[in-house]
Amino acid sequence: MLNIQESLPGFNELLSRFSVKPEQTLFVADKNTLGFAKRICRDANAMFCVLNAGETAKNWQSVRKVLQRAHKGGLGRDALFIGVGGGVITDLTGFAASIYMRGVGLCFVSTSLLGMTDAAIGGKTGFDLFQIKNLAGSFYPAAQVYICMETLATLPAKERKSGFGEIIKSAMLDSKTAQAESFAQIKSAVLEDNKTALCSLIKMAIRVKNEIVEEDPFERGGRRALLNLGHTFAHALESSLGFGMVTHGEAVAWGIACAARLGLKLGITTERRMCSIIELLNQTGYETGVPYPGLKNSAMFCAALKSDKKKSSNGLCFVIPEECGARLVRVELKDIKLVYQSAGIE
Ligand SMILES: NC(=O)c1ccc[n+]([C@@H]2O[C@H](COP(=O)([O-])OP(=O)(O)OC[C@H]3O[C@@H](n4cnc5c(N)ncnc54)[C@H](O)[C@@H]3O)[C@@H](O)[C@H]2O)c1
Repeated sequence: MLNIQESLPGFNELLSRFSVKPEQTLFVADKNTLGFAKRICRDANAMFCVLNAGETAKNWQSVRKVLQRAHKGGLGRDALFIGVGGGVITDLTGFAASIYMRGVGLCFVSTSLLGMTDAAIGGKTGFDLFQIKNLAGSFYPAAQVYICMETLATLPAKERKSGFGEIIKSAMLDSKTAQAESFAQIKSAVLEDNKTALCSLIKMAIRVKNEIVEEDPFERGGRRALLNLGHTFAHALESSLGFGMVTHGEAVAWGIACAARLGLKLGITTERRMCSIIELLNQTGYETGVPYPGLKNSAMFCAALKSDKKKSSNGLCFVIPEECGARLVRVELKDIKLVYQSAGIE
């Protein structure tokens, strides 16, 4: 269940939704979000596990730390894990909850714009492994997700900008009329700091994601793959630059521009559509140029692209923008040059 509200939830109210006692709960946070967890918990007798912040902490060691804390604290199958933080914390907490004693209760308090609009919704959990984003993971939706607008007040500008990458993606997957309205709201929220527009965009992104996930919860060949718009290029960029060097949302925004260029080459995206997408990304301050500045190791980028999780034996799958929405397209390995060219690699 999703709770969009201004303030953090009270601990008693949160616990009542799970029928657990404070001593059966484990809060997972990073150093930047621990304050929120402590404000929820107050003086109650709950456990805490504090992880390092950011993408570089999205690894097995962090998952192990959560499991170890739960084990040492004597938590059983009736435990509740509460992830308080951005997408990294909710992905890690969700994964740990999915495997601890074959699955315990799970609640998220999402504190980043990207988390609120994407990561905390839809049930995908995981961590990075062997330099590949989210190589290991599970589907394990949180039973309760809290989106508390007050937490955005402390979110650094860079992370706020990152959130708009996924918001733009969601708007592009929406209906044509809704899309035009969202594009205007995105400009207003970014350029004029319009809070009403931001609130509508958060709700829009959640609605779009929920609609798609409901149709194909386990990404078994249905529409859920469309949520990967921009992500094949983005994940290759993130892993070749080094995790944490570029925010996820910035990588996704750049990936959307690459997908639009690839769509033009494949004859799917019209030039007008490609230009309007790239214009919106530029106006909202995203890098769309190719190759990505600072991407020195193009061989590593190409290798990362080819090892994407969405690959098949003789091709790579990309989500390509259409006039309205997007479509999943397989590019044969013999045509991979088109993909490289779209990312500025000749
Ligand atoms: N599970 C999914 O469906 C899904 C979808 C999209 C993205 N993701 C994942 O989400 C991750 C990115 O999430 P993110 O952008 O939230 O990154 P993040 O969790 O690393 O948070 C970004 C930074 O902001 C800090 N922070 C978070 N909330 C704060 C607040 N309110 N005040 C101050 N600082 C705060 C964090 O400590 C961190 O340093 C990626 O690993 C990505 O793969 C998952």
